[in-house]
Amino acid sequence: MSQNTLSITDNRTGKKYEIPIEHGTINAMQLRQIKVSDDDFGLMSYDPGFKNTASCKSTITFIDGEKGILLYRGYPIEQIAEKSTFLETAYLIINGELPTKSQFEEWTYHITHHTMLHENVKKFMEGFRYDAHPMGIFISTVAALSTFYPDARNIHDPESRKLQTYRLIGKVPTIAAAAYRHSMGLPYVYPDNDLSYAGNFLNMLFKMTELKYEPNPILERALDVLFILHADHEQNCSTSTMRVVGSSHADPYVAVAAAASALFGPLHGGANEQVLRMLNEIGSKDKVGAYIKRVKEGEVLLMGFGHRVYKNYDPRARIIKRIADEVFEVTGRNPLLDIALELERIALEDEYFVKRKLYPNVDFYSGIIYQAMGFPVEFYPVLFAIGRTVGWIAQWLELLEDSEQKIARPRQIYLGEKMRDFIPLEKRS
Ligand code: CMC
Repeated sequence: MSQNTLSITDNRTGKKYEIPIEHGTINAMQLRQIKVSDDDFGLMSYDPGFKNTASCKSTITFIDGEKGILLYRGYPIEQIAEKSTFLETAYLIINGELPTKSQFEEWTYHITHHTMLHENVKKFMEGFRYDAHPMGIFISTVAALSTFYPDARNIHDPESRKLQTYRLIGKVPTIAAAAYRHSMGLPYVYPDNDLSYAGNFLNMLFKMTELKYEPNPILERALDVLFILHADHEQNCSTSTMRVVGSSHADPYVAVAAAASALFGPLHGGANEQVLRMLNEIGSKDKVGAYIKRVKEGEVLLMGFGHRVYKNYDPRARIIKRIADEVFEVTGRNPLLDIALELERIALEDEYFVKRKLYPNVDFYSGIIYQAMGFPVEFYPVLFAIGRTVGWIAQWLELLEDSEQKIARPRQIYLGEKMRDFIPLEKRS
């Protein structure tokens, strides 16, 4: 008869242990009973980069990396991207169910009415140098919101958490747009409550002297879908950061700023920026082969390829590729697309990539769309952060409601010096 346990024999002592298996995992604390002597600390697991360690139980996002499946609260990303809007998806991710009509109206109303920034936030942003990276501005300004909303520290009050949720989702596009306008030397644009979430974002980015900005509906929808595709992705680097910082009961503004900092790195959300730099460096289709050779020799990474979880085509990349065609109808075809398509074609046939199961990820095509829409490369991680703010908040809310969660505090394997006596400077050789 099969049992849901793992039998372990410790060959150091000959002792046997039965460890329960639940949800395909063993509880790492169960290992601690495995000792060679009474004063032994007990066995630990070693897992740099958390490659095989579940840090939480979650009901938000499901990924089957082998099959290339992504579900938000059980709904396939393809259906959501086709039928939903970003704000409806945000409601779903945060609340667990799709909203009724009245719930959605209320949700949209609150988020729309929290898009304004305190005038002092704008003054604070003006202090950045003209060439400051917009992601640096974004991270610092989100962190600064913590000083404007000290009530956010009431993290155990569900009403306060709801208010911070509205504020964060409402204000991140305004901060992002102001960071963009700052780098362009343009005046900040106030939000327009008549427009959709993505439409208003375009307004705050691109409005010039016209009285009323009218977003192009195709670009507005494309941006909305891009936000949907970036909204959550279970326990990735930035989301884990959100949970780690949240686990110390810090307020959600500093936690989102920390998560956005993790996103900034080129191996995570900064990859879309690197993809564009890479495509520009390659320069033309006929140079793709030479670049692939450098990748295979370990000299450079093929940015926008590979994923810790996906060992198949990232379903988000497939959707983005389709949106690209719609965007190019409006903006004209981005010539970098040909280089990207050639890179993908060669990589998907090449043994190096096939063997390692390296496929295009979400960042591979998004940058090409962002460029066609007129965004500077430095702005791409900021666009990622706007969508992902929803996931960070949902995961933070789930963490706070989870009685099994504790402050994040990993163990280490200490390989340094044993205890030794201090030698005064004059006696050191
Ligand atoms: N180009 C060339 N080789 C690669 C790449 C790549 N993009 N990605 C992985 N490999 C190789 C890697 O060198 C290793 O080879 P070997 O077995 O010979 O040592 C093998 O594939 C396994 O890679 P890994 O680094 O152990 O895998 P990981 O799960 O630790 O890293 C990753 C995942 C996303 C950091 C990595 O694939 C990578 O650096 N990709 C490029 C950056 C990128 O596009 N990041 C965006 C990720 S998706 C959006 C997001 O979540 O932010």
